[in-house]
Amino acid sequence: MSRITLSRFLIEQQRKAGTLPPDLRLLIETIARACKAISFSVNKGALAGVLGEAGTGNIQGEAQKKMDVIANDYLLDANEWGGNLAAMASEEMELPYHIPGEYPKGDYLLLFDPLDGSSNIDVNITVGTIFSILHNPNGNLAPRETHFLQKGSAQVAAGYTIYGPQTMLVLTFGNGVHGFTLDREQGSFVLTHPDMHVPAATGEFAINMSNQRHWEAPVKRYIDELLAGKTGPRGRDFNMRWVASMVAEVHRILTRGGIFMYPRDAREPEKPGKLRLMYEGNPMAFIIEQAGGLATNGQQRILDIQPTGLHERVAVFLGSSEEVEIVTGYHQA
Ligand code: AHG
Ligand code: MN
Ligand code: MN
Ligand code: MN
Repeated sequence: MSRITLSRFLIEQQRKAGTLPPDLRLLIETIARACKAISFSVNKGALAGVLGEAGTGNIQGEAQKKMDVIANDYLLDANEWGGNLAAMASEEMELPYHIPGEYPKGDYLLLFDPLDGSSNIDVNITVGTIFSILHNPNGNLAPRETHFLQKGSAQVAAGYTIYGPQTMLVLTFGNGVHGFTLDREQGSFVLTHPDMHVPAATGEFAINMSNQRHWEAPVKRYIDELLAGKTGPRGRDFNMRWVASMVAEVHRILTRGGIFMYPRDAREPEKPGKLRLMYEGNPMAFIIEQAGGLATNGQQRILDIQPTGLHERVAVFLGSSEEVEIVTGYHQA
């Protein structure tokens, strides 16, 4: 059978009545094109002078890497003229980006983390791009910030691109999770991982252990039990991985299972966690649930949280359902 490119996959989904509107298909194609450009920049690295610090900071209080800014610009440039969007929002921009007056508007909102795991870019370790698509409740009129503040369950599509040994685009629009590998010679994403599933059981966890002393009691208890191994309450050994790129951790979990955690902790007690609800928590929760896994903040489904700010943080427990259920249960005990 001939190869199924992203374009063909999307057109065939569009033909299946009602599953994918044409303007959403075009928007996803545009995002994929921007991610291809980001992939080429990331791969060129020092050859293109894209490594190192930008010398600026973002609204999150983080020092921006050059590649954070470049990836953000690629996504803005590719998406502003296509006519499918009312506005965009990004981890790297304090305020929403409105579509310039000369371009037609559409009724979708695009939110993104242009470069996830950007502390890894200078050391040649996997980074990614995460995106989330919402309907604009204001139609194709410019949205106010409140129009972005929809629960994750309202997302019409979400995905990420992983820039690793291979560049892959992983996508859902509520119809399962599908992975495409970039064929660099052909210049197209090819369906290589149809219908990805997260195994319910796992022996692998991911958490930044250096924050252990700052964790809350339910997280301490859960990790202590995993670390106790065969002679502990879980009666078996667990392995640990921490890449410090959420995209890489989620991709590993989609491939072979696992649980990823970034809990709230006592370093910044006023914040519910480090990761961003709109650019990281919601899109990854949508993908993981569509692949049969679970995603909570310890208290509730991430997709059920009512956002109150564009750059709001969230605690994240996601992945194989058996483990997410246990650690979520400990928060409710
Ligand atoms: P970003 O690079 O977009 O700011 O996100 C980094 C996030 C996430 O990808 C990763 O899981 C986590 O931060 C790593 O945090 P630590 O450096 O605290 O481990
Ligand atoms: Mn960042
Ligand atoms: Mn990120
Ligand atoms: Mn980022």
